[in-house]
Amino acid sequence: MRLVFLGPPGAGKGTQATQQAEQRGLRYIATGDELRKAIAAETPLGREAKAYTTTGRLVPDDVIIALVRELLEQPGSGRGVVFDGFPRTIGQAEALDRLLEERGEALSAVLYFDVSAEAVVQRLAGRRVCRQCGATFHVDSLPSKRGPLCDRCGGELYQRDDDRPDTIANRLRVYNEQTASLLDYYRAQGLLVRVAAERTIDEVRAAVNAAIASAVGGNANGQGPA
Ligand code: AP5
Repeated sequence: MRLVFLGPPGAGKGTQATQQAEQRGLRYIATGDELRKAIAAETPLGREAKAYTTTGRLVPDDVIIALVRELLEQPGSGRGVVFDGFPRTIGQAEALDRLLEERGEALSAVLYFDVSAEAVVQRLAGRRVCRQCGATFHVDSLPSKRGPLCDRCGGELYQRDDDRPDTIANRLRVYNEQTASLLDYYRAQGLLVRVAAERTIDEVRAAVNAAIASAVGGNANGQGPA
């Protein structure tokens, strides 16, 4: 099973994609997470990506495509993959088709997280992330029981640099200009499944399970072919 989770920044893709990957035993590939790791480690990739991510612009396609190729070549992608935040341009989508074709694979479904700009702003402004394990919280909808510390590992929670109001506005603009056209790209291939994502996290999880079941089989509780 190879799934793409597509939608505006803050739509809840990461929250749902990590759960689905865990539940179904799939590899989780999030280009944003990989870039943040590279930035923290000050690798050449991190140094190149930093100027783009902190202003909400997209990292160039060739850099991202090389990164995804490398990730797919690592062991552990055989059973399936959930792609989160990739692809984000038509060029990336075409490259993903080619990368999968080389491996004798193809996408199973693309889940589009449909959510308003107002909800996105509210979700991103309240997001807090664990510096240690990467778990994501929200000050209102998913607060950590340990306040400023992570529920899971006790790490410090922080606000992402790109979750500031001016950068959020830019990320939304970039999404509309460069990523929204992927909806037509995948609709034309019969892969696009809409998920009404402006509901509680549990309700969205049920909708994601149903969307996957409708696209690739299995039941709406998240059990089925992987
Ligand atoms: P990336 O890390 O991919 O960010 P994004 O796509 O903007 O997505 P987010 O992680 O912000 O949001 P999400 O949809 O995962 O929401 P989440 O589940 O966290 O990219 C960052 C940057 O890296 C880009 O701007 C770009 O510069 C670069 N980059 C990355 N990939 C690239 C690529 N392919 N090409 C080029 N450049 C690339 O949820 C958000 C908040 O809402 C959380 O607090 C959560 O708890 C809460 N929440 C989730 N669901 C709900 C719900 N149902 N109800 C209420 N609250 C909810």
